[in-house]
This record gives sequence, C-alpha cells and structure tokens, in this order.
Amino acid sequence: MEFIDSVLIVGGGGREHALLKALLRSDRALCVFAYPGNPGMERDGCVLVDQEITDWNDLAQWAAMNDINLTIVGPEAPLAEGIVDIFKKEGLLIFGPTKAAAQIESSKAFAKKLMKKYGIPTAEFEIFKEKDKALAYVENKGAPIVVKVSGLAAGKGAIVCGTLDEAKRALDDIFDKKSFGAAGETVVIEEMMNGPEASVFVLTDGKGYKVLPVAQDHKRAGDGDTGPNTGGMGAYAPASGVVDAATMARVEKEIIVPTLAAMDKEKARYHGLLYIGLMITADGPKVVEYNCRFGDPETQAVLPLVHCDWYEVFSQCANTRGSVSGVKWKIDLGYCVSVVMAGKGYPGKAAKGKVITGVDAAEEKAADVYFAGVAATAVPDKKSKDKGKDMDIDDDIDKEKYKKKYTTNGGRVLAVSAKGKTLAEAIANTYEAVAEVKFEGAVYRKDIGAKGL
Ligand code: AMP
Ligand code: GLY
Repeated sequence: MEFIDSVLIVGGGGREHALLKALLRSDRALCVFAYPGNPGMERDGCVLVDQEITDWNDLAQWAAMNDINLTIVGPEAPLAEGIVDIFKKEGLLIFGPTKAAAQIESSKAFAKKLMKKYGIPTAEFEIFKEKDKALAYVENKGAPIVVKVSGLAAGKGAIVCGTLDEAKRALDDIFDKKSFGAAGETVVIEEMMNGPEASVFVLTDGKGYKVLPVAQDHKRAGDGDTGPNTGGMGAYAPASGVVDAATMARVEKEIIVPTLAAMDKEKARYHGLLYIGLMITADGPKVVEYNCRFGDPETQAVLPLVHCDWYEVFSQCANTRGSVSGVKWKIDLGYCVSVVMAGKGYPGKAAKGKVITGVDAAEEKAADVYFAGVAATAVPDKKSKDKGKDMDIDDDIDKEKYKKKYTTNGGRVLAVSAKGKTLAEAIANTYEAVAEVKFEGAVYRKDIGAKGL
C-alpha cells in the first residue's frame, strides 16, 4: 500500500488556502488537516481539526496523536508565540522560524539592528523607548519621516508622516494613547525612502535557499493606489518590471545571503519563508521590512507559478539537516494575478452574512478561488425533513441531503487568481473569473497588475 503523508496547516486565510492548493497540485498522495482552516479548504478536501485547542501545546499533542508528518505555519502570530519551538520539542517536523528567528518580523528593532550590524541596506533609523527623545529626534530630522511601532500591529504599525505635525501625532498615539499597546513600547523612527515596492519570498533551510517569483502587492483600498491602507487588495507575479534580473542578483548578494548568514551568526538560524519587503530606491534595493511568513495576497499569485513537490520543499526547509537548494522545481514562464474581493466597508468593519455565488463558475474559467472571510452553513435539500432551515455545519445531520451555502464573514472575503502567457492575459483571465463571483456589496480593485504593464 502506498504510504500517505499527513500535513497540518496552521491558519485559515487566503494564504493558507493557497498553501493547501499548492500541496494538492503536487504529484504526491497527501492527507491534509488544518487548524482552524476555512470552508474553502474544507471544500478542497482538507480536514479541519475539530478538537478544542487552547494553546500550541495542545495542537502539538493533537499533531503527535494524529501522526502528522509535517506542520506548515501560515500567520506570524503563532510563530512569534513560539509554535515552532513547541512542536520541535515534541520531535515534530514544522515549517517556520523559531520564536527567536521570528523576531525578524515581531521586533522591528531587532530587524533594524541586525541590518545595521551586518551592513544590509535599509533606511537610516534610530530606536526609542521614551517619547521626549523620540520627539527631539523627529524635530531635528524634520518631515517626511516614518514612525513605526516595533511589535506586531497587523500591518498598521508603520506611519509614513508627510509633515512634522503628523509625526508628533503618531508619537502621541503610540506613547500617550497607547493605541498599539505593548507593540508600541519600542519605536523605530526612520528616513523616508522612495521607489516602487516588491515582495521577495525566500524559502530557506537557513543556508540553502530558493527565491520565488517576485510579486507586487496593492496595499491601498482604491484604484490608482488611493484610499486607506489594507491588508492587501491584490497582487501579481512576476513583478519583473520592478525587480529585473540584474536587481535580483544584487538583492541576493546584498540582502538574502547576508541576512541568512547574520541570523545564523546570531544563533537564530532561519528556517521557513523569509519575506523581504523591498523598495527599489535610487541607491539600489533596500529592505523596508522583513516578515517571517508568506504574504497575503502575494502567495495566491506566486505559488501557482511554481511546479514542484511542495511537501518536499517545505520538509527540506523545516529539517535541521535539510537542503532546499537541491529540490527540483520549474517556474512557469507566464504571469499570475490575484484579485481580493472584500465586503462592503472594508478596511473598516465589513458587512457579514451576504450569500456568495459563482465560485464554481469562476473555477470553470481556469481560475482558483481562495477563501478567507467566508462562513459555511448547511442548506437542506428538497428531500430533507429540515427543508427551508439553515443548519450549523457541525450539527449532526445527514450530509448527503445537504449542500453548503457560503456567506461573507470578514473584511477580505476571498481572492481569485488566474494565469496567462502575458501579464495582460493574466489580468483579463482573472477579471473574467472575478465577474462570476457575486455577493452583495462586494468591493475589489479594477486595476490589479496594471502597474506592471
Ligand atoms: P512596514 O509595516 O514596515 O512594511 O511598512 C508598511 C508600508 O509603509 C510599506 O509597505 C511602505 O509602503 C511604507 N513604508 C515603511 N517604511 C518606509 C520607509 N522607510 N520609507 C517609505 N515608506 C515606508
Ligand atoms: N501583503 C502584505 C503582507 O502579507 O504583509
């Protein structure tokens, strides 16, 4: 009998759904579980962990009991909380950096000091714990200037200040109003850089590495990069117009190799996915930030372009003695575009409970649909005695006589990705599929990828 490997994915957003779809595309029999997962992952055949989990120790116990061969962590919070250290202590293989290595994202002060010590190009900066000193620094430097809280702040921790007043207000918010809580106890103030941005994803075992196709995110809510910042409204890859081959060679030499070597030297060898937020300035590529995990929604545009045995790639990165450099993979010559569809009101409080239709129709157009803020309910079919009622999916029901109804349940509801031989074709294919997916009040940008044309 063929041996089937079991995988556990931690997280339940579009990124984790993309990790699942990538694993399932591989030519390898896998049984995939997710905690907490989402209804889209379940729809693709993933089993959601149905045991109550109170902490990561609990999940490690569950993984051990269920013979999980590899755990893959999506979001930064579990990594910053030390999920990898806990699983490793149990002798479990897990993809992601340790708590010490995850500081590269969870402490901007750590990341900036690392870059300074090892000569990795980034914006000039100073670190502060006291408001009066921060204020004096800002007054001395003048605007524009960037004020950042050091800790995790769900993508809202960097305040780009065009005027001195804005910078002072940012410091009031952080130090007096404590709007960012403990994440704002340490503040990084840095020089404002200019230039286009790109997301570089590096899969690494700490020494060897593989670079994924470069992506560009669209952070603003509105077309033409207007409106408030969001978690990301869409992405395309490869963003070769922003990072060409010559620039990528510099990124490898000046940023990727020295960063991995620096982490090793600091006794925080990096395993997993290193996300380098780059800005291509007049002086060359510089690091805006590091993240210790895949980006969302960039992952939904990047992974479909890579053909490999993802289980092997993640395992090699996770293994202390692994070597990811040797794993075979093939990169598509085309492009992939991912468009996020959000609920009305996003990035503010978004409307919930709106029925989603057209997912099958979008998939029939050779697109992938990645669920994020989606809830599922069971709808009894005509033959069921419960006809006309909506049932909780967990209720003890005869699943044969029910079908699922999907409704919106969060800000970013889902993402639709499609490929094309050219970027223009990928954009057209993606929007053709987006047009099939419908829910009341759906908002999405109409210009994802246009920057790259
Ligand atoms: P971060 O949370 O550090 O990724 O910052 C979020 C966003 O703020 C980045 O994607 C940039 O658009 C902007 N940003 C951060 N730092 C700088 C900087 N030093 N200069 C210009 N823009 C920045
Ligand atoms: N798309 C930006 C991020 O994942 O942080």
